[in-house]
This record gives sequence, C-alpha cells and structure tokens, in this order.
Amino acid sequence: MYLAPMEYETSIGTAVDRAADWLSKGACVGVPTETVYGLAANALDEAAVLKIFEAKQRPHFDPLIVHVADKAAAEQFTTTIPEKAKKLFTAFSPGPLTILLPKKKIIPDLVTSGLDTVGIRIPAHPLLQQLLRILPFPLAAPSANPFGYISPTTAAHVYAQLQGKIPYILDGGACAVGVESTIIGFDGEQPILYRPGGLSLEQIEACAGPVLISTEPGSHPAAPGMLKSHYAPRKKLNWFTNNAALTPRTAIIGFDHYVPGIAKENQFLLSPAGDLQEAARRLFAVMRELDASTFEEIMAVPFPATGIGLAINDRLRRAASEE
Ligand code: TXA
Ligand code: MG
Repeated sequence: MYLAPMEYETSIGTAVDRAADWLSKGACVGVPTETVYGLAANALDEAAVLKIFEAKQRPHFDPLIVHVADKAAAEQFTTTIPEKAKKLFTAFSPGPLTILLPKKKIIPDLVTSGLDTVGIRIPAHPLLQQLLRILPFPLAAPSANPFGYISPTTAAHVYAQLQGKIPYILDGGACAVGVESTIIGFDGEQPILYRPGGLSLEQIEACAGPVLISTEPGSHPAAPGMLKSHYAPRKKLNWFTNNAALTPRTAIIGFDHYVPGIAKENQFLLSPAGDLQEAARRLFAVMRELDASTFEEIMAVPFPATGIGLAINDRLRRAASEE
C-alpha cells in the first residue's frame, strides 16, 4: 500500500481560529460534525481538495460532500433547488442531512468526481458552525478515515489514523449522532434516498412525502462512491444467525439483549436500554475496539429497521461485504 509521507506534527485542540488558519493556507484539518469527524479542505481550491484524497487514499471517482453554514450559502453553490429540498433544509438544518443538488461551475469537478450534482450539508456541530462562519469558502469533507475503514467519532480516532498527514484536528468531543448524514437526491420533485443516516426516513417522509429508496450498494450510477464494501473493520464481520459457527474468539454486536446460550463476555450490547440513538452513537467506536481486541471475528445481530436503525443495519451490511 502507498503511504503518504509524514508531513506534519499533528496537534489536537479546540481553537477554531487555528483550524481556520490551516484551512486558509490550503491544508486539510480534522473537524467535528454531529455525525462523524470529517477531513476538511477548501472546497473551491482543487489543490487543497487533492490533499484530502491523498490523506485518505481515496479514489478520485468517489465524490465529496460540501459543508456550508446555512441555506443561503447552499444557494451560492447550486443552480436550482427543488421546492421539497428547500422544505427539507428548512425543517432539518443544521442537521444530519445531505442533499444532492445541481452544482455551479465554481465547485471543482474533482469535488463531485465529474458529476453535475454536489452533495450539500449544513452541519450542526457548534465548533464547525463557528468555523464555517469565519471562513470565506465552503468545506469539502469526507469522513476522516482511511478509505474503506470505519468512520471516526472522536478526535482520538482521527489522530490514530491520520497522525502526521494533517496539521490539526479540531476536537469537538464525541459525535452526538454517530453515523453519517442521510443522503437525499431528487428526480424533479421526487426525493430519493441514497444513504440512510442520522436523519430518519420517517422524518423525511413526514416532511417531503414518499421517498424512493435507492440504497442498493454499488448499483446506481448517481452515487459512484457508495461502494458495497465500506465502513469495514479489518477483521471479518458477518451477520449473526442461529446456526452460525461460533468460537470463543467470536464477538457479537447486539442491540439491547443478549443472545441466549452464548457467553456474555463475547457479547457487546450497543444500548441495553433499547435506545437506537444511543446504539448509533456507539456503533463505530465499538467496531474499532473489537477490531483492536483479541477477538478474531465479529458478528452482528440485525437491528430493528426503524428510525436510525436503518442506518445502523446499512453500515453493518457494508462492513460485512467483502466486495
Ligand atoms: O455525515 C456525513 O455525511 C459525513 C460528515 C463528515 O459530514 N461525511 C461523509 O462523507 O460521510 P463521505 O465522503 O464519507 O461519504 C459521502 C458519500 C460518498 O459515498 C459519496 O459517494 C456520496 O456521499 N456523494 C457525495 N457527493 C455525491 C454526489 N454528487 N452524487 C452522489 N453521491 C455523492
Ligand atoms: Mg466515509
């Protein structure tokens, strides 16, 4: 594997002005969002955006989301916004929602992998909001993990993997949502779900009416980067089934109750209280811990497919995929 040279002594802190300085100089900075940490750069500067792809070892065919402070800023970078997209932004921004919209030329093709739409997101984290309001440009930011690996939900996760490759990580604490934003595109006024995420499908449908589902990994050209194998630990991850062959070195990720007949030491419940939001918040950290543990393989019990449970199952399914 090609490893980018260590260029920086990476520091972690809460200084928004330091983050802004580095970004203004064209560097990449780790930033907190309410969903997962991002690896940000000036979205209007192709040379800066290239550094994101290098640091992440991300293929150029996988487009980046552009983060802006508010709806007015979103309008600066897009041509036409469907009425229902405006409605969704009004109802749920800032928040864990990304909307694919026709882009203006000012957004470099590198950001969108040549697509004529750009993913626009208005993040809710107060430090990132402050940062976006200081900067005279929007921030392109994918999740701050090496391509294909589990997304980071703390500054320490970012440091563990991107140390030396970026000068600064803005520390905003543990992410409140824990899974990435929900991605919605449009065919005219018809909303389409491309990635389930922090904002639930139920909430979106209550606001914008019925949504078409297009989340089959890797099957739709509108989202070339939504690859099947993603969010994956290095260890093998499979769905748990009743006839699964377990060993003492199998770890099981579950929701709120233990699978009967299996040692509790092997089982990791994401929310004994049965709260799907809490489970989502803990998902990636627990996957990382298990990846670093002496367990040899990981199995996951499917979560209730409601609310943010849809996003949890999606991430587990992609982690389980070997393609
Ligand atoms: O919560 C989030 O969305 C986080 C935080 C950092 O904001 N970001 C994030 O970015 O998850 P990333 O790059 O890890 O995932 C973005 C996904 C990719 O699968 C990419 O293919 C898709 O969004 N995407 C971005 N722009 C697109 C576009 N114009 N058309 C289709 N898919 C797009
Ligand atoms: Mg990602």
